[in-house]
Amino acid sequence: MARRALITGATSGIGNSFARRLAADNHDLVIVARSADRLEQVAAELRAKHRVEVDVVVADLSTSEGMDRVAERLTDTARPVDLLVNNAGASLAGWFGTTDIADEDAQLDLLVRAPMHLMDAAVKSMSGRGGGAVINVASVAAFTPRGVYSAHKAWLVNLSRWADIHYDDVNIAVQALCPGFVRTEFHQRGDMDVSGVPRWMWLKADYVAKASLDDLRKDKAVSIPSLRYKLLATLARYMPSSLVARIAKRGR
Ligand SMILES: NC(=O)c1ccc[n+]([C@@H]2O[C@H](COP(=O)([O-])OP(=O)(O)OC[C@H]3O[C@@H](n4cnc5c(N)ncnc54)[C@H](OP(=O)(O)O)[C@@H]3O)[C@@H](O)[C@H]2O)c1
Repeated sequence: MARRALITGATSGIGNSFARRLAADNHDLVIVARSADRLEQVAAELRAKHRVEVDVVVADLSTSEGMDRVAERLTDTARPVDLLVNNAGASLAGWFGTTDIADEDAQLDLLVRAPMHLMDAAVKSMSGRGGGAVINVASVAAFTPRGVYSAHKAWLVNLSRWADIHYDDVNIAVQALCPGFVRTEFHQRGDMDVSGVPRWMWLKADYVAKASLDDLRKDKAVSIPSLRYKLLATLARYMPSSLVARIAKRGR
């Protein structure tokens, strides 16, 4: 029987790689983003190529209305979702303290409140149905003191680690996916200068999605794709945090 996955931010980058990989693996999909045109384009391509069902939900996940719309879809018992991929995200141009506080509120809503609301809906729905899985797309930035973005991602990693243990009883696996630099639209949208990031630090979105799903099968609560980022994350854990903060600041 085909399973169904709901992926937020499925129109580009990592979310789009999850959508293509899961569709190729015979999952029906619910894909979410703000851009209706791009969602319909992705849906049409995946239906034609893999003969799976693809539903589209247009929602701005930095708004309560958008979160509610997607949460409602997650609790639809007629078309149950077995895997939630909390992936939609963005970065603000500029460090905290120089940005508009209203934009920081919207970031908090998108990167923290939205995954929290969607995970709440998914867990309540899945626990009554024999189980499921949640992938929360965080970042290796979670392991470094690096502005508000890294603080939001650290929150997501912490919650995921706890939830994976806590919901084991009801057969729900929760994973925090922590990629390093991935070539997507993310840096351009956030107006970030990444010209100084060496080539060896870049990962491909398809590789990241595959690593995450492989790690989910192995029941890993934290997935860090690639050996180089596993090593960097381990170093960050043992180095003095002032030194980690100085190194991390150069990466932006
Ligand atoms: N790229 C990296 O180096 C990197 C590294 C570590 C972690 N990450 C994380 O990976 C996740 C995906 O990022 P990406 O690199 O794949 O970025 P991306 O290529 O810019 O894709 C972002 C996706 O999220 C959607 N989105 C953005 N804001 C949204 C909103 N308010 N409501 C609903 N959907 C929204 C976008 O579609 P619409 O614009 O149409 O809404 C798009 O589908 C993010 O959580 C990011 O923090 C990225």
